[in-house]
Amino acid sequence: MPITDPRLEQTDKSFWHGFTEFYDTHLPLKIEGKILEFGVFKGNSIRWLLAKFPEAMIHGADILPIQSEWPIDARVTYHMVDQDDETQVKSLLEHVGRGLQLVIEDGSHFPRHQSRCLRLGLDALEPGGTYVLEDIQTSHPAHSQYADEFGTALGQTSLSVLLAFEHLKRRGEALSQSTLATLGGGTHFTDVDIAKLFAQIASIDVYKRATLPSKCWKCGSSDYDYHSYRCGCGVDLIDEADSMSVVIRKA
Ligand SMILES: C[S@@+](CC[C@H](N)C(=O)[O-])C[C@H]1O[C@@H](n2cnc3c(N)ncnc32)[C@H](O)[C@@H]1O
Repeated sequence: MPITDPRLEQTDKSFWHGFTEFYDTHLPLKIEGKILEFGVFKGNSIRWLLAKFPEAMIHGADILPIQSEWPIDARVTYHMVDQDDETQVKSLLEHVGRGLQLVIEDGSHFPRHQSRCLRLGLDALEPGGTYVLEDIQTSHPAHSQYADEFGTALGQTSLSVLLAFEHLKRRGEALSQSTLATLGGGTHFTDVDIAKLFAQIASIDVYKRATLPSKCWKCGSSDYDYHSYRCGCGVDLIDEADSMSVVIRKA
């Protein structure tokens, strides 16, 4: 379906990653409670949330102070938070309080931050709520942000854990003691965290872009060299670790 909404054209959720159509299928149609998004950047996804969920109260969290380009609206509150700080993330979630129905984590994309926000965010989410872990490809061993954290070693991340959960749940299998021992005990999640997360999660839907982005994230053009899978400006259009998002429904 062609993009006709200018708000969608401005967010890389749409023109680069292609997440928005996946979200149209997997996000709730209506939210009357609270939404929290980690990562505001230029405010485009806050504009998208305002339009998509006209009855929701929206909280945007970023390491940046409020920027002049961020949308000001009676339904939006901004918080300055560093995802690297467990205490700050905890107090943000306490401040947002009851009624949290949707969390979108689209912040730093550091693998350890993704895992922290998943662990704490799922606790804070209401039963039946939805958690979106966007750009989870940074937790794939082929991604530079994974290498920044783990080097060439293989480590436990939210991607390896959630793909394992999805595999088990799709096959109707429980989390056995031996699988728990394999998945737990890493730097991101303890055995207790893993067992708790598995019990908290009702369903997991995974998206990975298989087509070319509508336009280049860097230069904004769609003047592609199709045989090299590159934009004319040199940006790779399909990487091994690119454009992945996970939508989790809390039990
Ligand atoms: C990918 S952008 C967000 C894009 C936005 N959600 C959208 O779709 O338009 C990532 C944001 O994460 C913020 N960020 C980077 N490191 C962070 C950290 N440690 N804690 C919180 N936010 C961080 C950046 O300032 C940036 O605004």
